Amino acid sequence: MQPCNLAFMHHKNGYNKQIVFMNSITVENLTKKFGDFTAVDRVSFNVKKGEIFGFLGANGAGKTTVIKMLCGLLASTSGEATVAGYNINTEPENIKRTIGYMSQKFSLYNDLTVGENLNFFGGVYGLKNSILKDRIQWAVEMAGLTGKTNALTGSLPVGWKQRLALGCSLLHRPQIVFLDEPTGGVDPISRRRFWDLIFSLTEEGVTVFVTTHYLDEAEYCNTIMLIHAGKLVAGGSPRQLKTEHIRFPMLEVNCTNIIEALNILQQKDWVIESSVFGTLLHVSVEDEESGSRKIKELLTENNITVFGIERIVPSLEDVFIHLTDRPTIDTRTSGTVHVH
Ligand SMILES: Nc1ncnc2c1ncn2[C@@H]1O[C@H](COP(=O)(O)OP(=O)(O)OP(=O)(O)O)[C@@H](O)[C@H]1O
Ligand SMILES: [Mg+2]
Repeated sequence: MQPCNLAFMHHKNGYNKQIVFMNSITVENLTKKFGDFTAVDRVSFNVKKGEIFGFLGANGAGKTTVIKMLCGLLASTSGEATVAGYNINTEPENIKRTIGYMSQKFSLYNDLTVGENLNFFGGVYGLKNSILKDRIQWAVEMAGLTGKTNALTGSLPVGWKQRLALGCSLLHRPQIVFLDEPTGGVDPISRRRFWDLIFSLTEEGVTVFVTTHYLDEAEYCNTIMLIHAGKLVAGGSPRQLKTEHIRFPMLEVNCTNIIEALNILQQKDWVIESSVFGTLLHVSVEDEESGSRKIKELLTENNITVFGIERIVPSLEDVFIHLTDRPTIDTRTSGTVHVH
């Protein structure tokens, strides 16, 4: 077992100070092939202790496959990874005991009550008697399910089920939890509530590895990693991603006929990128002032009314469109990556 990564820093007083990098998860060239198909392709990253690590990517990008390998549930084809210091290839059983895992597919029993599900999962983790009782009580309160322990799980709204599933995955007090799309199909208020639970976990030092399709949720993460067709295309804090990847001014254009306006703008070589955001367009240009003027002139010439153009701070959605729409992306994490 390798408890954490160690490094040595040369101290100005002449001695080498030992620095402990508190990585909960280390991943090095992790790869998974299903026959000829490479679902995860030489993925490398680290997850720091106590952080919220957001793993993002479109359907089929490889998120669940990475999680399953890290949880010791799926053998890797090649590469190395450690979770809580345990090697995924040689110590998967230790990993399973150490972590909490909330799978993407609903894992609770619908025909059992809330209390019965908690009892069952507590038993799976080897909890008994008063410890089990205490942990179940904690989970019920944490998940906001007080007074619902006799309710049939199948009768609960999705948001409540997800909180129950989280409670079940935390009964044995894991220091690392993997949440695979915990808020899929959940209404915005329940999503917010779920995230409050995630924040309270990290306050206790728990490391949270979470996948999501919602980019507003990605903003809550300390670190985000973007996976596309099995390869990492970018990583960093939300702020880093926005400042490092979108280098040109981004303008928000409010006009009539946005689809037509988009088509017209996309034909111009001075338009670096353009996309539709709800009823508005996001257009990046080399220079704010001249770009703004040219957009207004061009659209007006084409009988499109421009209500307003203003510079905006790019959102993560802008960053991800930028990263996954282009044929080639240069990243620090994985060199030059071809995105299809
Ligand atoms: N057991 C398997 N056999 C063959 N192909 C698989 C298997 N499991 C996953 N795949 C393929 O690997 C790719 C990655 O799948 P994965 O489930 O990891 O994606 P994901 O990012 O979690 O997607 P989603 O957002 O839909 O959950 C997909 O193309 C999927 O069809
Ligand atoms: Mg998945």
